[in-house]
Amino acid sequence: MKNIPTGMRLTPFDPDYLENPYSVLRQIREADPLHHDLELHRYFPTRYEDVRAILKDPDLLTDPNSSLPESYARHFINKEDEEVSMLLADGHRHRRLRQLVNDLFKPRAVEGWRERVEDVVRHYLDRIEGPEFDLMAAFAEPVPTVVIAEIMGIPSDKQADFKRWSEMTQEAAFNPVPSEEALKSAAKGAEQLESFFLKEIATRRQHPLDDLISQLIASEIDGDKLSDGEIVSQCVLLLLAGNLTTTDMIGNGVRALLENPAQLKKLRENNNLIEATIEEVLRYDAPVLNSSRITHQDTEISGCPIRRGECLHVSLASANRDPAVYQDPDLFDIERTPIPHLAFGGGRHFCLGAHLARLEGQIAILRLVQRFPKLRFAERGYAQSFVPEFRGLEYCWLRID
Ligand code: HEM
Repeated sequence: MKNIPTGMRLTPFDPDYLENPYSVLRQIREADPLHHDLELHRYFPTRYEDVRAILKDPDLLTDPNSSLPESYARHFINKEDEEVSMLLADGHRHRRLRQLVNDLFKPRAVEGWRERVEDVVRHYLDRIEGPEFDLMAAFAEPVPTVVIAEIMGIPSDKQADFKRWSEMTQEAAFNPVPSEEALKSAAKGAEQLESFFLKEIATRRQHPLDDLISQLIASEIDGDKLSDGEIVSQCVLLLLAGNLTTTDMIGNGVRALLENPAQLKKLRENNNLIEATIEEVLRYDAPVLNSSRITHQDTEISGCPIRRGECLHVSLASANRDPAVYQDPDLFDIERTPIPHLAFGGGRHFCLGAHLARLEGQIAILRLVQRFPKLRFAERGYAQSFVPEFRGLEYCWLRID
């Protein structure tokens, strides 16, 4: 189809898409909702109903090793036949990995961390000195990393190293064209994290503590337990999947509230709106732009024939702004109901950390606006960060006086 944006124009490598993907997504959703992107070898579904149905389809796969050799999905693994993490695993392997950690992230277990999250948020708010500060560096970045470090039971004197290594591992993640430098740094970070976790696991095997690593060691289903290597990859996955996403949710949420002062006023006047505010933030400016599934056989979607092994790279960002589901989808409205957003994906791979992310987002944003009644953008403003597949801010300067 002529003049329809495709390929790199539908990624944050394109400056317009990076700045504001929503107008490009609207265009493509209206003109070619199951877009076949021949440049990047993927289908790019953008309508809410299609995205939701694909995410929930139990027959579709996620392991990139099942995709055609040229498929876009291959960018999500580093080498052929790589043993993928839970996020990309299928069938028995996915069920096993997920079941062994599922209970640790259920609402009741997550509720038990509320006080720790409050403590971490308070700690970083106390350190903010006015009149200006960078929301991302001073607050949105450290809070999720330190929360997960606390939950895992990483001692506080090792948290700075832990934070640095986990940031390094993220440098090449989900990037279809990573630089040599980013790849090297990511490999180094992963190595450091691995030997660090192996030591922590060995200590916990001798002396179990009340923390997530000890729980992963103890977790057992019908006599099946996680090996040391599997515990390490689960921990690394939790960092990769949980840190940047939660950071971006906090940044995108504060930005949306400051750009919509009437909504911020409503939240200030009625703090009970914080849960709905976080759901609207996740809909309006989702931290994860896309997710993917792979066809396991020749099939048809909305009448369009699709070969086996194709990558369906669904646009969560577009689905969340589909006018077929949301009235005035480009308006940020914290009283919108209902908000059946797809920011956490769907089906078998629905985000394991969704309850934790919600808890962190609610506490972080509410406490921030309560602490600083005059919070507003500083002149230096903000800039979009460049991490393919994610949407967030690189920096965001705010004033508190
Ligand atoms: C606002 C923050 C977050 C967002 C927007 C987010 C989004 C997502 C998305 C879109 C997926 C893929 C779902 C699919 O393909 O159907 C996912 C999976 C996952 N997320 Fe999150 N996530 C967030 C926070 C977290 C946190 C805090 C953790 C854990 C500490 C976490 C752990 C995971 C894991 C382990 C998976 C893979 C689940 C599976 O494959 O079964 N996420 N997340």
